[in-house]
Amino acid sequence: MPEMSDLKGVILCGGLGKRLEPLTRITNKHLLPVYNKPMVYYPLETLIGSGIKDIMIVTGGNNAGDFLRLIGNGSEFGLHHINYTYQRGEGGIAEALRLTEHFVDGSRVVVILGDNIIGGSIKKYVERFRGQDNGARVLVKKVSDPERFGVAEIKDGRILSIEEKPRKPKSNFVITGIYMYDAKVFEIIKTLKPSSRGELEITDVNNAYLRDGRLSYDILEGWWTDCGLPETIYRASTLARKKGLR
Ligand code: G1P
Repeated sequence: MPEMSDLKGVILCGGLGKRLEPLTRITNKHLLPVYNKPMVYYPLETLIGSGIKDIMIVTGGNNAGDFLRLIGNGSEFGLHHINYTYQRGEGGIAEALRLTEHFVDGSRVVVILGDNIIGGSIKKYVERFRGQDNGARVLVKKVSDPERFGVAEIKDGRILSIEEKPRKPKSNFVITGIYMYDAKVFEIIKTLKPSSRGELEITDVNNAYLRDGRLSYDILEGWWTDCGLPETIYRASTLARKKGLR
């Protein structure tokens, strides 16, 4: 069984953040403040808190260099080194992940979207992923606005289907932006076709694992939010502040 250190971590910070205009006109969404820190600090701390030390950040847009100025070699976070790569355009989450294939190098990978912020830790879920033979593991959460996300239909403890931003969600359980994959993920990505929004969808990756019967899940404990909208950045800041004050 691979050691914890064999797991790679990837933080996806691409995209143009159009839903946050004008905040994102002059900078990358993931550099915006959430309470007292730049947004990207949170997913970075989430990965490091789960025991992962070998991390790559995928950036994009006009401000990629600012990640280097902000995070440097990662020493402020107790890392010896941190890796960066660059996504041109807006090809989607799965396309951004594809860029990390040489870094993951046949190992397994824990992926977190740079705008996903949580109240707790993912350590126990990452440990469960280590314990499973292969396949993928996702974290789901019950929300009141599932139509904004990838929605999981769950029955008898099993995910039956995942639909990306459905008009009529089959449940209130959504797939959070925290994904764990074996190295087969890169073969799956190569088979994907762009969706109607012109992106390679991570939901299609998860559905491929689901069809193979190799998708496990946990219900994420504690609060979770994305930061894709002004309202959710505000919510994230409020929750992060409360957590900081505890
Ligand atoms: C993405 C995924 C979606 C997932 C969400 C979590 O949505 O496509 O399945 O539920 O992240 O934050 P996006 O932020 O690209 O709209």
